[in-house]
Amino acid sequence: MQQAPFVFFCRPGFESDCAAEVQAIANAYELAGYANAQPDSGYVRFYMFDESSSERFFEILDVADVIFARQWFWAKAELEAMPLEDRITPIMDVCSDVAIAKTLLVEHLDSDDGRELSKFCKKFSTPLTIALEKQGLIHEESEFRLHILFLANDHCLVGFSPLERSSEHKGGILRLKAPRNAPSRSTLKLDEAIQVLMSRTQQRDAFRLGNTGADLGAAPGGWTYQLVERGLQVSAVDNGTMDKKLMATEHVEHFKENAFTWLPEKPVNVLVCDMVEKPSLVANLMAQWLEGGYTQHALFNLKLPMKKRFQEVADCIGLICDRLEEAGLTHFWQAKHLYHDREEITVYFRLKSRVTKN
Ligand SMILES: C[S@@+](CC[C@H](N)C(=O)[O-])C[C@H]1O[C@@H](n2cnc3c(N)ncnc32)[C@H](O)[C@@H]1O
Repeated sequence: MQQAPFVFFCRPGFESDCAAEVQAIANAYELAGYANAQPDSGYVRFYMFDESSSERFFEILDVADVIFARQWFWAKAELEAMPLEDRITPIMDVCSDVAIAKTLLVEHLDSDDGRELSKFCKKFSTPLTIALEKQGLIHEESEFRLHILFLANDHCLVGFSPLERSSEHKGGILRLKAPRNAPSRSTLKLDEAIQVLMSRTQQRDAFRLGNTGADLGAAPGGWTYQLVERGLQVSAVDNGTMDKKLMATEHVEHFKENAFTWLPEKPVNVLVCDMVEKPSLVANLMAQWLEGGYTQHALFNLKLPMKKRFQEVADCIGLICDRLEEAGLTHFWQAKHLYHDREEITVYFRLKSRVTKN
């Protein structure tokens, strides 16, 4: 019998990378399963071969550990050809077998078809929540999140995820508004990265008043803007021109130099890097800064090749981890293909042992 699938949401076009990554996670735990993904659908289904492997997979999965997935859940039921005049009844019929949940997310995919369901999903959420509450299927003390993923207006998957290991945002997408004064729209990439990849404690440590930052490949200054907004004094390295308003804040010093050779006179608290360069070159540069004690926090993009993107990402992150381990530096890292990332992923490294350069 086919097992109930695990569902992973990804950016359309990245289904095979997401599938390869989920397969690698299952393999690492010696759990046998297989992925099924339609190109450009914006999601992957992953099937385990038996129920006990499914249960084990559910216990270990964490959205923070899956780079190419923004959200996941275990789909316990699939409803097709629901009557459009009453979709609540068939959903309620299966919900009691899924889980008593603390919260509900009515979701759609990030594909063209999926986005067309966005308005409906928003509207449907309130009546469904009321119906679930009436039946006692929403409970404050539950550790689960209920997911209703609409694939078409009469077709949905119903499942659940652990609150602590899935995203609280619909489809795992943190919606942000571009600030009016930001020099570029890519400012949103760093804003999202900080909020998704860094814990509150890590953010507090990185963005203390009086802390410093370096932005490699900074022009026109969208990322520098985010650091300045969070109270940092920033060294912006780029041959290009920086935004005038940002420079007028007097929180930025502009170095028109090559970011692959420039180093700060004193270590900075936060390094960010958004250069369009070969991922292995960026990975080596980040390793150099971290192992040299030039920074404790590093946030950077790895621009992805066209093929075998998961392998390239795994190699680059592996390279940095190996170098830090060789240097005896304990560290934390997390990476994600964020909503505002296109052909790139964003990576965060934090040194746990504090290193200062003499
Ligand atoms: C994608 S843009 C950065 C956009 C910026 N993060 C923002 O939000 O406005 C990449 C920048 O990297 C710079 N760059 C590329 N190679 C560089 C190098 N070797 N040294 C310094 N800057 C470099 C380019 O000049 C370009 O301005």
